[in-house]
Amino acid sequence: MTDATTHDHTALPSHVAANREAWDRKAADYAAGGRRGWATDVITWGIWGVPETGLRLLPEDLAGRDVIELGCGTAYVSSWLARRGARVVGIDNSPKQLDTARELQHEFGLDFPLILGNAETVPLPDASFDLAVSEYGACLWADPDLWIPEAARLLRPGGQLVFLTNAMILTLCTEEYEADDPAKELLQRPMFGMRRIVWPDDPGVEFHLPHGTWIDLLRANGLEIERLVEIQAPPDAVDHPSYSFVTADWARKWPSEEVWVVRKPA
Ligand SMILES: C[S@@+](CC[C@H](N)C(=O)[O-])C[C@H]1O[C@@H](n2cnc3c(N)ncnc32)[C@H](O)[C@@H]1O
Repeated sequence: MTDATTHDHTALPSHVAANREAWDRKAADYAAGGRRGWATDVITWGIWGVPETGLRLLPEDLAGRDVIELGCGTAYVSSWLARRGARVVGIDNSPKQLDTARELQHEFGLDFPLILGNAETVPLPDASFDLAVSEYGACLWADPDLWIPEAARLLRPGGQLVFLTNAMILTLCTEEYEADDPAKELLQRPMFGMRRIVWPDDPGVEFHLPHGTWIDLLRANGLEIERLVEIQAPPDAVDHPSYSFVTADWARKWPSEEVWVVRKPA
């Protein structure tokens, strides 16, 4: 079953409307990467493709678990979990990203619900999921003060939230993301007050929090922090052909991505 719930675009908060426009415009450029994700069954994380077998971020047994991907985009992460027997639902704010996800579902013969919507207000009941996951998804583009309480609401007691986003130190060392201007080896911005960032030449609105702010927010929503995994680019990593915001050399010395693994107490 594929479910496309439409929302009134004019009623969206301004950052959500801006991100819908931005991702609808970028969707065609992300289709090939999404297809590469769908074409493999090996779970990897982030732009350096670090294998799950080494990081162990997800529950070992996914069979029969109810999972929601917040900001699923092309939904390759969802596809990996669905193939392991999870009952997956993807929600995304971009109709065009979901068009790609649906095409890939059709091509790879895998069907799970895809909802057009805002991860800050998910149209699903409390305590419906064992796992919420987000890889450069809503965790980067939705307002943390809204999507973290939503994720906590959606989880069953004992359920986990796992999300990957840009590492704090990367953002601190970045002046102009996506302007062929990779992260520097010197701090480029203050950490205090860091939150909402709009990069030059992109209407999208991102949210980047200092670690102390994440910790306070997660705990205020009743979530226990189990791990903060700082991802290191592997020794043989080369600069990514599509993402110029960080070099492999930089990411071998400092984390360019971080993964928060948190749990709603049983
Ligand atoms: C980098 S992309 C997708 C990541 C996914 N792992 C992939 O590569 O296909 C980020 C996605 O987050 C979605 N997004 C942004 N803000 C959102 C929100 N408030 N609610 C749901 N999805 C959102 C965008 O529409 C976009 O598809």
